Amino acid sequence: MVVLQVVVTGGAGQIAYSLIPLIARGLVFGPATRVHLRLLDIPPAAQALEAIVMEIQDSLFPTALEGVLGTTDEVRAFEGAQVAILLGGFPRKPGMERGQLMAKNVGIMKRMGQLLERHASRDCKALVVANPAATNCLVLAANAPSLPRKNFSFLSRLDHERMVGMLLEKANSVLAAGTASHAVRSERLRPADVRGLCIWGNHSDSQVPDASSVEFCLNGNWVPAQTILGDSPWLKLQDANAVAGAGGGDYLSEAVRNRGAVILAARKLSSAMSAANATAAHLGDWLCSPPTGKTVSMGVFSDGNPFGVPEGLVCSFPVQCGDLSGANRGGWNFDSDFRLTEDVSRQLAVSVAELEEEREMAFSILNGGQSTPSEG
Ligand code: NAI
Repeated sequence: MVVLQVVVTGGAGQIAYSLIPLIARGLVFGPATRVHLRLLDIPPAAQALEAIVMEIQDSLFPTALEGVLGTTDEVRAFEGAQVAILLGGFPRKPGMERGQLMAKNVGIMKRMGQLLERHASRDCKALVVANPAATNCLVLAANAPSLPRKNFSFLSRLDHERMVGMLLEKANSVLAAGTASHAVRSERLRPADVRGLCIWGNHSDSQVPDASSVEFCLNGNWVPAQTILGDSPWLKLQDANAVAGAGGGDYLSEAVRNRGAVILAARKLSSAMSAANATAAHLGDWLCSPPTGKTVSMGVFSDGNPFGVPEGLVCSFPVQCGDLSGANRGGWNFDSDFRLTEDVSRQLAVSVAELEEEREMAFSILNGGQSTPSEG
């Protein structure tokens, strides 16, 4: 029987709290894969970690969980890990600048990279969720140079799922009201009835939520979004620095970019349930699904990308996950059929410039003033 060794950093945090039941029920790595889960956190969270291990025991998860270790010992957590889910870090506090957040977090990622390099399986797959996710991922990989670069990714799937959810909400309300531009009738649309969208760039306000090629599956046929939504300005990509509408409801792109802030303001805590679900979807597609031809947004190294993004950056792209059974578990490719519109290209260049700036800042922090990634 194969047992997958999975380390989750930030194991006592709020995303982990929602993610653990998904893993333990076989909803992330598939029902046929048994998981040994190592939950790592820092000493001040040791008691919380103990309580979470008790709750796991009390939850009587049926089969997927082979064992659980709650620990503050980094080496025990990373020893032989085949999958690393990096949630651990300092979350952004109100009023905190991106640079301050970076200074707090890149040191943690450097350490996590060193642990991967020294203790994890040589084919470990790493998903960075902790912010600033793209630059954290770059720092992580720079400190684990013997692992293949294709094994590193960051989570942009939450932004992708937010856009799917908003598109569905809008399309279903138009269908229910019977006001679609063509006289269309349909059952309620589901997530699988939406395709052709992508989040490009950084996981930040500069991200580019691209709905220019969205299609809905209406009564068994794929049709452009406009068939239901008409030529609505709502679909038009707004500049990231445009003045935001109240609550971000005027444009889809604006609403996607603002969603995290709206949830943070209302809950006084950042998104956790949806972040855990997006993490599960990212890992499931990447590591456990047969190839479906489905295009998803994933933060990956830009090396060899057909979209003109400079090499050596970690950036969100449209990707398709490949055959992931056995030794090839974890393959993915850029979806080179995805076409960039002029607007998307222009805004992606802005987001890429931000990624380059963040890279500069991160390695300068780590190297005490020098900005060469190789020394990170
Ligand atoms: P949280 O604050 O509830 O949990 C973070 C945990 O990390 C805490 O338990 C903390 O003690 C732990 N931690 C700090 N330093 C650590 C270290 N060196 N080693 C191990 N653990 C360490 O935060 P939450 O809500 O679970 O979010 C986790 C991260 O995910 C945050 O950085 C947040 O900004 C980010 N996030 C990213 C999203 C994305 O779409 N990429 C979406 C939502 C959140």
